[in-house]
Amino acid sequence: MPAPIQTLTTIEAVRELVGGARAAGSRIALVPTMGALHEGHAELVRTAAEHADVVISSVFVNPMQFGPHEDLDRYPRTPEADTERLAALGVDAVFMPGVDEVFPDGGRSATIVSAGHLGTVLEGRSRPGHYDGVLTVVTKLFSIVAPDVAAFGEKDAQQLFLVRRMVRDLNLPVEILGVPTVRELDGLALSSRNAMLTAGERRDALALSRALEAAGSAADRGVESMLAAAQSVFQSDTGVQLDYLAIVDPRTFAFASDAHHGPVQVLVAARVGAVRLIDNAVFSIP
Ligand code: PAF
Repeated sequence: MPAPIQTLTTIEAVRELVGGARAAGSRIALVPTMGALHEGHAELVRTAAEHADVVISSVFVNPMQFGPHEDLDRYPRTPEADTERLAALGVDAVFMPGVDEVFPDGGRSATIVSAGHLGTVLEGRSRPGHYDGVLTVVTKLFSIVAPDVAAFGEKDAQQLFLVRRMVRDLNLPVEILGVPTVRELDGLALSSRNAMLTAGERRDALALSRALEAAGSAADRGVESMLAAAQSVFQSDTGVQLDYLAIVDPRTFAFASDAHHGPVQVLVAARVGAVRLIDNAVFSIP
């Protein structure tokens, strides 16, 4: 029978566990999360487990990646259910620190890992400072756990791109695994924020995946046609307030021009009621 999951709340306890595992020759995987776990997170864990002997998941709602008017207080917190789900998935330990353990200086860090210009466009334009907060906490988690591999979802494509670039820029000794987005049968991308949607908003939220589909079906006509096709979905959907719709080259995250051929990533963010959702999909322009 596998050992029961360990719940760790201190950095010291994580380092002790990792030290022991490493001394025994184990490879360590980290699955960083903010909790309210769903099947998308389960997929991160399964992928991580394929690449390591010991899987540690962190559950920490990082205050540094929320702006002053964002949903930090409303963000769903379900620690017991999260622990049960992680245990059922065979995770060895869950790191569930309090804010003071990670940020002893009042929820902030004087030293910040900057996402640079790319942290100020798209998601970063709507959420100033968000990616600096993400990269700072991810760096801290990498420093605490010292994993060999870490798994991140493809749903936040900009986050995944920035984490990969940070690892390369700072020579961090960790391999980043990108894990495909898990969707409901009707196409809605799984997100912890879906729990905050009413039934009506849940229906309206399908506009995001429909817009991606519409963009994909126009791929053979180029970037502008893809954008127009996606945009038209929001004109008929009144309950959804589009934040941005953009097409980038997934290799560089630069905006794609109409002359672009090859892979493109369509990115969408929209507010459904009070809930902000993001989604994306990759297509190829012939
Ligand atoms: O993607 C998330 O859930 C968060 O941004 C992360 C990577 C756990 C950092 O807080």
